[in-house]
Amino acid sequence: MTTAALVLAAGRGERLGRKEPKAFVGLCGRSLLARSVSALCAVPEIDWVQPVLPPDAGQLPADETAWIHPKLLDPVPGGDERQDSVRLGLSGLPESVEFVAVHDAARCLVTPESVSAVVRAAWTGRAALLASPVSDTIKRVQGRQVIETPPRSECWAAQTPQVFAVDLLRDALELAWNDVFLGTDDAELVERMGVPVEVVLGESDNFKITHPEDLARAERVLADRGEA
Ligand code: CTP
Ligand code: MG
Repeated sequence: MTTAALVLAAGRGERLGRKEPKAFVGLCGRSLLARSVSALCAVPEIDWVQPVLPPDAGQLPADETAWIHPKLLDPVPGGDERQDSVRLGLSGLPESVEFVAVHDAARCLVTPESVSAVVRAAWTGRAALLASPVSDTIKRVQGRQVIETPPRSECWAAQTPQVFAVDLLRDALELAWNDVFLGTDDAELVERMGVPVEVVLGESDNFKITHPEDLARAERVLADRGEA
């Protein structure tokens, strides 16, 4: 099953508050983007890895050796919204690709083992994502008022990669475009077509680097792995 990964790196990283795009920020000497690309290139089930860069970035971060790999495709520019970056990334893939794993470059501690597991789940069921059960009780809130408390045992925090049959994701993006619908992840676009999406247990270390303190947490994880 020919499978490609999109590594989404086109965001500005407003919440991290750095001058350079978030995916270009260094973590123990390597950019978040290079770390994500390396993790995905190491996955036997993945044939191609497509970086999606900020439109004004022009090129990959200069300090890396990760950019020489037979699975690596030329980077393509992303768009204003994450969903636009997914659409633009898809358009750059070889026609032979049957499945696509959409991954946030900012989740740069993902392990090849969990990527393999979610890709294999999607090969069987067409759509799967990594997620982890939440430990806090989740409240739905509008204004300051609680609207609903969904049963905690049914609440999972979505991660990436999220893996789909390519034609399914293309259809879901087109429907979202026609409905002017912006999802907060890719699975949501597929769910609203009524297609079942399988959850695969992800690792808690696969968090998204979002705020400055997340970099310190990621450094501790790398130190524990003996990589810092
Ligand atoms: N992303 C993207 N294109 C966009 C927006 C986001 O490719 N237009 C990517 C980011 O580079 C990131 C991933 O999607 O790897 C998850 O998004 P997020 O964590 O929100 O990153 P940013 O949008 O860069 O951060 P912020 O929202 O704080 O500006
Ligand atoms: Mg964002």
